Amino acid sequence: MPVAVVLGMQWGDEGKGKIIDLLADHVDVVARYQGGHNAGHTICFDKKEFVLHLIPSGIFHDDKLCVIGNGVVVDPIALSEEIKQLESVGINLEGRLVISDRANLIMPYHQVSDQGREKEKGKFEKIGTTGRGIGPSYADKIARIGIRACDLRDEKYLQSRLEANYEEKSQVLKSLYGKQLPKFDGLLNDLMIFRELILKYLMDTNVLMNNLISQNKNILCEGAQGTMLDVDHGSYPFVTSSNSSAGGVCTGLGIPPTKIDRVLGVVKAYTTRVGEGPFPTELFDNEGEQLGKVGHEFGATTGRPRRCGWFDAVVAKYAIQLSGIDALILTKIDVLDGFKTIKVCTGYKFKGKVIQDMPADPVILGNCEPVYTEHEGWMEKTAGIKDFEKLPEKARSYIQYLSDLLGTPFLIISTGPDREETIQMGSLFVNS
Ligand code: GDP
Ligand code: IMO
Ligand code: MG
Repeated sequence: MPVAVVLGMQWGDEGKGKIIDLLADHVDVVARYQGGHNAGHTICFDKKEFVLHLIPSGIFHDDKLCVIGNGVVVDPIALSEEIKQLESVGINLEGRLVISDRANLIMPYHQVSDQGREKEKGKFEKIGTTGRGIGPSYADKIARIGIRACDLRDEKYLQSRLEANYEEKSQVLKSLYGKQLPKFDGLLNDLMIFRELILKYLMDTNVLMNNLISQNKNILCEGAQGTMLDVDHGSYPFVTSSNSSAGGVCTGLGIPPTKIDRVLGVVKAYTTRVGEGPFPTELFDNEGEQLGKVGHEFGATTGRPRRCGWFDAVVAKYAIQLSGIDALILTKIDVLDGFKTIKVCTGYKFKGKVIQDMPADPVILGNCEPVYTEHEGWMEKTAGIKDFEKLPEKARSYIQYLSDLLGTPFLIISTGPDREETIQMGSLFVNS
């Protein structure tokens, strides 16, 4: 029953897309368990670059099944566009893409509410969301008023679910943000068009995943966002609205916890964050600028510049503990090639005391000062190196230092955006 999870250990954008595409070669199935089209997963091969938002990152391997689990929130327009885009580059999705009939949909009113709330300065704390309607859609799911993919099967039932929402949503959005919702018939009509496209992909993915497990298929569960954006365990309230840590796999795909074999954590050699919220190692100087410039740190979904800072071992240790991460994948080591000195945060200082555990309180996280160790940079090119022994000695000792500090081995070191620019140190599964 080889089930592996690959998830982000920081604030997202760790390079999960590249790694999942790479590891997809060793599995039969790639399955997303949470998030929505707030995610932007970049995959580069054959000198081409693709950004996936909803469709799992195994889609570029012809023989892999890609599953969108019940824990994902699906925007009909975004999904339709992504399907069309992939078809336009010759990727055939029929028989290869499966969507859970229990997945909740993102409706246009969710997006209006998300964007409206973010603009209402003063009333709510600005989170810097992607504006895709993610939070309001998950809120409706928890309030038990969401519209699910399976509702598309029965036109009458679909209409009644939409009716139950429409009046309340239109009144609230008008009075709070002065926004007028599209006419009811138009919304229903759009859903009916989506229905035509999507019905063939819908399935009970709980049954599917568990059948695949009993057939001993290799499954890779794809995390979106990162540990610090997890709604329960992240830097709340500056988080997304789903469980991006390993717990989300069980609820978001119907995979029992006893069936998960491996949890791999993807971590950048430095830290980035998009949107608002505390970020202890954030740099506001030339070095931060250099990280952003060399690392091309712009959001793959919104194009916003990412805030940059040094590697934060408090965050990484927290992610390891929370998700039971048993091996690490280090990305973007090449971005550090031009740094004379590299810093690693090993603790936070708050009111004269050093904290090692992640504080729940955003006021503490926002006011603590990082405690750093300093490392001599290698000032040589690591970009594109495929063999660990060929890395500069100082880069190897930096990697060893991180592994010792985190008490966890590295399985992969990524030295560039392309599939090929990778150092593989071990196997995903013992038999692969
Ligand atoms: P994800 O959301 O975790 O999949 O990450 P994103 O795709 O949003 O952002 C990661 C960015 O870094 C993308 O532009 C990748 O092409 C790029 N990338 C991934 N791994 C590496 C690496 O090892 N080195 C460099 N220079 N870029 C990388
Ligand atoms: P991937 O999968 C980085 C951030 C947003 C915002 C917060 C809440 O590419 O790593 P939301 O729209 O989810 O309600 O926004 O979460 N965020 C991400 N940051 N990478 C992502 O995904 C993100 N998805 C959401 O910027 O701060
Ligand atoms: Mg991303």
